[in-house]
Amino acid sequence: MCGIVGCIGRDDATVEVLMNGLRSLEYRGYDSAGIALGPSMTVLRKSGELDALTETVDAEQPVGTYGIGHTRWSTHGPPTDRNAHPHTDENGRVAVVHNGIIENYADLKAELEATGITFKSETDTEVVPHLIAQALDVGEDPATAFHNTIDRLEGSYAIAAVIDGTETIFAARQGSPLVVGVGENCLYLASDIPAFVEHTRDVIFLEDGHRVIATTDGYTLLDESRRPVDVAVQTVSYTAEDTGKSGYDHYMLKEIHEQPTALRQCFSGRSDALEGTITLEEIDSIPQPNAVQFVACGTSYHAALYGATALREMGVSAKAYLASEYALSPPPLSLGTLVVGITQSGETADTLAALRSAQSRGVSTLALTNTVNSTAARECDHAVYIRAGPEIGVAATKTFSSQLVGCNLLAEELVEGRRDLRPLIESLRNLPDDVQSILDSSKAAELVEEYGDSEAYFFIGRGTNVAVALEGALKCKEISYEHAEGFPAGELKHGPLALVTPDTPVFAVVTGDDERAKKTLGNMKEVQARGAPVIAVTDGKSNAAEIADATLSIPETNERIAPILANVQLQLVSYYLANALGRPIDKPRNLAKSVTVE
Ligand code: F6R
Repeated sequence: MCGIVGCIGRDDATVEVLMNGLRSLEYRGYDSAGIALGPSMTVLRKSGELDALTETVDAEQPVGTYGIGHTRWSTHGPPTDRNAHPHTDENGRVAVVHNGIIENYADLKAELEATGITFKSETDTEVVPHLIAQALDVGEDPATAFHNTIDRLEGSYAIAAVIDGTETIFAARQGSPLVVGVGENCLYLASDIPAFVEHTRDVIFLEDGHRVIATTDGYTLLDESRRPVDVAVQTVSYTAEDTGKSGYDHYMLKEIHEQPTALRQCFSGRSDALEGTITLEEIDSIPQPNAVQFVACGTSYHAALYGATALREMGVSAKAYLASEYALSPPPLSLGTLVVGITQSGETADTLAALRSAQSRGVSTLALTNTVNSTAARECDHAVYIRAGPEIGVAATKTFSSQLVGCNLLAEELVEGRRDLRPLIESLRNLPDDVQSILDSSKAAELVEEYGDSEAYFFIGRGTNVAVALEGALKCKEISYEHAEGFPAGELKHGPLALVTPDTPVFAVVTGDDERAKKTLGNMKEVQARGAPVIAVTDGKSNAAEIADATLSIPETNERIAPILANVQLQLVSYYLANALGRPIDKPRNLAKSVTVE
């Protein structure tokens, strides 16, 4: 959801640092991109993916000793050259990049227009350089002009600005991520660490209200009252290699193949196989909640559905809510309810709003997230990390699998009472190898050859496999652009069956051989009777494979773990389908990885 980058102190390497930084932030938006360089105040910006800007940069060979850059996911105004960041004031003295939404921009714009200023773009961001320039015109020094402008903004933002004649980068954070990389005699700023991790792993995680004034002599951190703040520099563990493609054609495929490692990391050190216990030290002291409400979006919402189903099966009242609905239509909360936000990035605006709404009503909150020190992790009362490692592909894969493991760990930690967890622990221990065996033997690519030109794709399942069916469909539509829908298997006959034809393959996720599996077999027959080919994603415990027209097999495992394996097969189906259709898999149209606007 827009990526911003900045660097000062790298002299001749500035353009290269900014362009490389933007390349690793492209997952946050790829509608347009731009850079502004000081001291010349050169601004280059281009609509389209970063390659378009790269061509311009190669042709124009701009120079600068410090600068800022932006890769855009459009909110206000379509992805055109003139809406691309950086935005400038009328005389090009101030250039600004911004991630977020300035909610009072219409009022500010009207005020600026009344003074005779003509806007060049349709963005909310453009008010910022004009306000700074106006403040300079009335004699304010650059830092004061910057602070006074930031004070007037409402909404969410991570902003970086350069002002002619200052050799300084000014930046501020409110509600959108911004991290500082501390190098030797140089400083980096970015929406996310991958933008500068090849240069430094020493990082300052800014908090809302923080502002940074960076010069070649060093940096000053201030709070919103402009008082100096002392924030510790932390050394992050991941390296530039973690954020590269390592020879894979796409980040998505790389990340699908990283799942054995990710799952091992998620589970490591959190169980005692001999005792048959699971412990999440981070939340060891939380008493069992009376009820659990999950809030999340997209793929993470599917993890929430899985988590809620698992908890209900353990006798705890639990429900998953779409975060975008939760904040504005909050459900009743009783004392002792725990609200769990599941969010890979920890920065999703809808999820943060839902968590804040719960917090404002006095209940305890917990973030299940991949991102250490993210806003969700910092704002919630508790944080549990899924430890999947950096995920760059816009489509969440390894983080979804890790979220499902995280939900199991969470459920076992939260629900009191002695249970013998040895079978579950054994399955969780075997999970990385089981995933690897699917990656080594999956028939997903062949299946796509057979069914890859269908009209639509449907996915069905029951119990925790509903989450897998919905996720299978989301992944499919997101990266292949094909029509795909997921349904609880029993719901088909209440309407969606009307869509089923011989040209709509149905993926039936059938694990175990309980009543749910048996009923799903009936649903498979119902769609077959309408001529649809059925692909069973199954562990072979039921006779789903005998009924189905084709099968994607998963190893036998614990019933709670089987959905994680089934999902890996469906990830591969979506990947190969999108690949066969020539889609830009890591950068699906109109999407961005981290959605920091509501
Ligand atoms: C789809 C996908 C999105 C995210 C959603 C929430 O592949 O990745 O649906 O799951 O935008 O993001 P997080 O988990 O960062 O809150």
